[in-house]
Amino acid sequence: MGQKCERVAVYPGTFDPFTNGHLSIVRRGLEVFDRVIVAAAQDSGKNPLFSLEERVEMIREVFRGQTRVTVQGFSGLLVDYVPTTGANTILRGLRAVSDFEYEFQMALMNRKLKPSLHTVFMMTDYRWLYISSTIIKDVARLGGSIEGLVPELIHARVAQRYDERAHNAVESQGNAG
Ligand code: COA
Repeated sequence: MGQKCERVAVYPGTFDPFTNGHLSIVRRGLEVFDRVIVAAAQDSGKNPLFSLEERVEMIREVFRGQTRVTVQGFSGLLVDYVPTTGANTILRGLRAVSDFEYEFQMALMNRKLKPSLHTVFMMTDYRWLYISSTIIKDVARLGGSIEGLVPELIHARVAQRYDERAHNAVESQGNAG
């Protein structure tokens, strides 16, 4: 009997930070794919709050013990990275119509660059329609609660990062004064 071909998808993103919306896409992805590789991007044009290493480490912690999920960081073009994993499918989440244009543009550019790769979209759960990493960082930075919107351990890390920043800002003001 021939060996069953494993279905593997790469779920790329900046994940700064990884949210419950991202988590729900991975969970639903696992109902369609045998394995999901969560791939945190170094080069996404954003100026992240967490370094690539920190983002990878936090997401690994979220999926600790889940053998069907692996977490990696990558730099350079997504279409160059995906084939190195053995996968030929990119998984992306869509929240609203507003995401469509950007996602469509990326999917078409990726296809132009590497026609052998496919992009599969999954609809985000309605509970996470309104969240994004940016809005979560904004709320946390200004002291609002992000409880229930990100995994617990990420909640703690985001709060800690803003505490450190506030502390450093006070110190440098003190030094300047
Ligand atoms: N639930 C909640 N929020 C979601 C979500 C979901 N299911 N899916 C996406 N989002 C949010 C994210 O939080 C993020 O918010 P932000 O813009 O405020 O940070 C936004 O939607 C999209 O971010 P994310 O899913 O992390 O992807 P991205 O758009 O940051 O990632 C890459 C883009 C990494 C896939 C792309 O830049 C890339 O491929 N980079 C590598 C270099 C490359 O190949 N470039 C050419 C691409 S054509």
